[in-house]
Amino acid sequence: MISFVGAGPGAADLITLRGRDRLADADILIWASSLVPEEVLSHTKADAAVHDSATMTLEDVLAVYDANPHAAIVRLHSGDPSIYGAIQEQIDWCEAHDRAYEIVPGVSSLSAAAAAVGRELTIPKVSQSVVLTRLAGRTAASMPERESVEAFAAHGATMAVFLSAARPAELQDELLAGGYPAGTPAALVVRASWPDEQIVRTTVGELAEAVKSTGVKTTVLVLVGPALEGTANRSHLYSPSYAHKFRRRSEPGSTVGRPA
Ligand SMILES: C[S@@+](CC[C@H](N)C(=O)[O-])C[C@H]1O[C@@H](n2cnc3c(N)ncnc32)[C@H](O)[C@@H]1O
Repeated sequence: MISFVGAGPGAADLITLRGRDRLADADILIWASSLVPEEVLSHTKADAAVHDSATMTLEDVLAVYDANPHAAIVRLHSGDPSIYGAIQEQIDWCEAHDRAYEIVPGVSSLSAAAAAVGRELTIPKVSQSVVLTRLAGRTAASMPERESVEAFAAHGATMAVFLSAARPAELQDELLAGGYPAGTPAALVVRASWPDEQIVRTTVGELAEAVKSTGVKTTVLVLVGPALEGTANRSHLYSPSYAHKFRRRSEPGSTVGRPA
């Protein structure tokens, strides 16, 4: 079995129980040292063969899979494997070669960054959508034209920008050109959940300077949008006047509130 396991954002206790179990059982581990702290490997058994994907091509990784048809293999990806994890090309190989595989979800850096800044990303009447995206960068050819940061910015929703801290001025320009007002709150979270996690709260208009001030270009997630203001509108779901399957409507001052 080849298990594509989400390592979580960094902290060793933010891997899922299932992910930890797969690591503990792995004969072979391939991990990304540039994105996953070594601490996460503490879950691995001592005699597992460990490969660092930082120096490997896809062909190198597939050669390990090919040479070990009966081994328990864990391919450890940062955060959740389904987000910028480059797992599809590996899954395609598994399906073409009739190899069993599974995906073990992980805590994305998106969740860890939101937790670090202490904000809900979906505030009623402010933003009910989260756009996960990135600047095109060196992968420009693989970026669908309709998916520019500028195009998404026009929605004014919450945005999480991955893989883009190396070009802060371009990021700021696209966010402003798309229509976020310069005063829109933004936050950078560098190495969310790592021991040296860094949080910078800023605005879209000052984003580029804020990114530069960290001196960091990788392992940075940029959150943008009015939801980061942190002012909640009352949710319908938990309002006394909102009834649903598990709770009756209760009028102000009424003691009725629980289902029979
Ligand atoms: C190849 S993508 C992998 C994303 C990952 N699959 C996830 O779910 O978070 C790497 C990018 O994710 C973001 N990232 C990953 N881990 C992070 C962390 N601990 N703190 C902040 N950003 C992180 C950064 O934008 C980084 O450049």
